[in-house]
Amino acid sequence: MESQSPSTFRLRSFRLRGDRMTRAQAEALANHWNRYEIPLQGKIDPRDIFYSFKPKRVIFEIGSGMGEATAKIAAANPEIGYVAIEVHRPGIGALIIRAEELSIRNLRIINADILDVLNHVDDNLIDGFHIFFPDPWHKRKQNKRRLLQPPFISLLSRKLKHGGEISIATDWLPYAQEIGRNFAANPDFEGGAVRRPDRRPVTKFEGKGISKEHIVSDFHYRKR
Ligand SMILES: C[S@@+](CC[C@H](N)C(=O)[O-])C[C@H]1O[C@@H](n2cnc3c(N)ncnc32)[C@H](O)[C@@H]1O
Repeated sequence: MESQSPSTFRLRSFRLRGDRMTRAQAEALANHWNRYEIPLQGKIDPRDIFYSFKPKRVIFEIGSGMGEATAKIAAANPEIGYVAIEVHRPGIGALIIRAEELSIRNLRIINADILDVLNHVDDNLIDGFHIFFPDPWHKRKQNKRRLLQPPFISLLSRKLKHGGEISIATDWLPYAQEIGRNFAANPDFEGGAVRRPDRRPVTKFEGKGISKEHIVSDFHYRKR
């Protein structure tokens, strides 16, 4: 994988979990999806995807899951635009329910693989990425499916503006160590492990990890 160029490497970093959803999730998608959706057609320009306001910055969240952190962070920072990217449709339904409850208007959603999404975005345009609890792929022979490997980190760098930032959290120590090593080896970034930022809400996923006594690591990187 290391030998492949950042724009062409492929990786299946998620599990296919099916599209079974609750009635409320299905209704949320049926009623509101067109207002949140960014379709994967043509170029996606982060400066043009929020119609009702001009965001100070636009942050892409990779793997928003059930949208707990996404909705809380978007509600707390209405001047920033958030783009949630998630392959799992029931999770998107859950995020829309939360966004509607909180009357969030600074959120758009893409139902696709981040690798496809980034092919639609020109370089040097994104202000930041949130990557909270990326699938850890615990088993040794599955480690190669982890997202935060050198080619993907190079791709993130290309899409970020200068000074753009990446916030990461994981509750799997071997993955945390790999993340630290992989970013340290990339000269485009400065930063490293940080104390848990207050602005990152605890999600059910994180709660489960903590109940198993997993140690949660947070990282923050900035593109030089
Ligand atoms: C372990 S969950 C964490 C969800 C959420 N961030 C949280 O903290 O609760 C990882 C999520 O990333 C999504 N995911 C994994 N690879 C992805 C990819 N290549 N593109 C988009 N989403 C992806 C998965 O579907 C899953 O919902």
